[in-house]
Amino acid sequence: MEKYSKLIRERRSVRTFDGQKISGDVLEQLKSFTESCDNPYGVPIEYRFLNAKEHGLKSQVIAGTDEFVAVKMKRQPNFEEALGYSMEQFVLDAWSIGIGTTWIGGTMDRSAFERAMDLSEDEVMPCVSPIGRAAKRMSLKETVMRKGVGADRRKAFEELFFTDSFDQPMKEENAGSMLLPLQMVRLGPSAVNKQPWRIVVAENCAHFYIAKAKGFENSAHGNMQKIDMGIALCHFSLGAKEAGLTAEFEIHDPGIPTPDNTEYVASYRIM
Ligand SMILES: Cc1cc2nc3c(=O)[nH]c(=O)nc-3n(C[C@H](O)[C@H](O)[C@H](O)COP(=O)(O)O)c2cc1C
Repeated sequence: MEKYSKLIRERRSVRTFDGQKISGDVLEQLKSFTESCDNPYGVPIEYRFLNAKEHGLKSQVIAGTDEFVAVKMKRQPNFEEALGYSMEQFVLDAWSIGIGTTWIGGTMDRSAFERAMDLSEDEVMPCVSPIGRAAKRMSLKETVMRKGVGADRRKAFEELFFTDSFDQPMKEENAGSMLLPLQMVRLGPSAVNKQPWRIVVAENCAHFYIAKAKGFENSAHGNMQKIDMGIALCHFSLGAKEAGLTAEFEIHDPGIPTPDNTEYVASYRIM
């Protein structure tokens, strides 16, 4: 399998597919990927592969595929971060065999998907994704959407990462052994490309914070920016592994003063 750093660098959301059916073998392989998706919160997550025609599913931004994957879990603390961490592994594994995806938390016929997932009252289905091979050309709608959120751009390294406190932006050349894990975090996908992840590196720890934007908090389907944080944790841990580091997950707020609307989420301790 290709290196995750390569997959992370090359991945993009795919919303326009080639119209070809996915073979049974490939579907089986995708199912097996979901079986190895874990998360550091220990939240059980159920994946289901759903055919749009069979279940009457629709996403207004997706064209050229009838196949989707959707997830559900019991409503519980940190279900969003757990989902971000878990499903991002699927997204990258799918990309490694030429299958494109898009995290979709908003632009879908949610009630049709929830019916197809047999969602019960204590469960939540935050996101779905189409699966298939990318078309040669993006639809006009996809091109316009990507432009609208600046999907090809990410915030500068020193806007996202800090040394010891939020007063000291970190330059790439000073990241030392944390360089690859931090670069991987920076490239992650996020809802409306808001990139809410901030990291303060102090001693041997990378402390993750969420810079909360307005409008994400009160969704009944989970806070999309917390899913982004799970994606960031996943990318960090994949980058750390590839850099030969042993990174241990912990939740222990170090008490570093934070800017407004910025909250502690979790840490990785480099052993
Ligand atoms: C939690 C989450 C929810 C998202 N929801 C949607 C959505 O509802 N519709 C959509 O078209 N894209 C959605 N996206 C995709 C983002 O817009 C996309 O990842 C971002 O613009 C960066 O582009 P890239 O994935 O091609 O790098 C979502 C992404 C994440 C991580």
